[in-house]
Amino acid sequence: MNTPLPGRLIGASLGPGDPELITRRAWAALQSGARWLYPVKKAEEASYALGIVQRGGLAVPADAEPLVFPMTRDPVALARAWARAATRTVELLQEGRDLVFLVEGDASTFATFGHLARVVRELAPDVAVETIPGVSSFAAAAAATGLTLAEEDETFAVIPAAYGVELIDRLLGDFDTLVLLKVKPLLDEVLALLEARGLLASSCFIEKVGAPDERIVHDVRRLAGEKVNYLSLLLVHNPGRARGTLRRGCRKRPAATTTTDALTAASPQ
Ligand SMILES: C[S@@+](CC[C@H](N)C(=O)[O-])C[C@H]1O[C@@H](n2cnc3c(N)ncnc32)[C@H](O)[C@@H]1O
Repeated sequence: MNTPLPGRLIGASLGPGDPELITRRAWAALQSGARWLYPVKKAEEASYALGIVQRGGLAVPADAEPLVFPMTRDPVALARAWARAATRTVELLQEGRDLVFLVEGDASTFATFGHLARVVRELAPDVAVETIPGVSSFAAAAAATGLTLAEEDETFAVIPAAYGVELIDRLLGDFDTLVLLKVKPLLDEVLALLEARGLLASSCFIEKVGAPDERIVHDVRRLAGEKVNYLSLLLVHNPGRARGTLRRGCRKRPAATTTTDALTAASPQ
């Protein structure tokens, strides 16, 4: 039988860059006396998530600790890094204090936190985990650019661009808006596709939304050949998409005019 760990593991979503988008719940967790953990790509490297909190005016506690999650595809290096991060997290939980793990954007959306919590649970199945939701990069990007992600019956999808232009091309038939994350390595290929589909004018590129060096590019064709930041995404709107028919049964019924109408409208069909 496992002895329950005394500390909780809290994933605090901080939004994508503007500290004004840190929720009250995440702010309270940061100030609760919980020990801070924050992700870095390399030891001694700055943490983007920690930077959001610092811009919000909070001093970093002396015992805040980085966890290294390298940006590599090497499975051995990755497994080693994850094991080290999870083991250290469990060690700290055993000291009895809550841990608050700082997450850029939303903790349930392509975030390290979900995987960390899973690996920690494998080592310590009784650990209590709390996820504090937050503003995702693409919600903030849509707001910053004045675009909407979906209106009325529209559809939208969020995918890592790494699935490739063939898939993106197919999805443009099914979705009115595509959000392409992690677009950096494929940017030129995606731009060529958007040009071929006549969608350059209805696309927008956003880098480091909410950060002091945020960049919004409406004329995306001028990005061709450019090396952009990893923290960037494309919003692609496909205004001419042929739509299928919708089932109308779920729509609100017209207002009843008589008592009989009202009773009929309320009765099960
Ligand atoms: C590992 S995912 C993290 C997503 C994040 N948890 C969220 O809720 O948006 C990283 C990708 O998200 C997007 N992203 C994250 N933060 C961003 C920002 N501040 N500005 C623009 N794109 C961002 C980029 O496409 C980046 O390659």
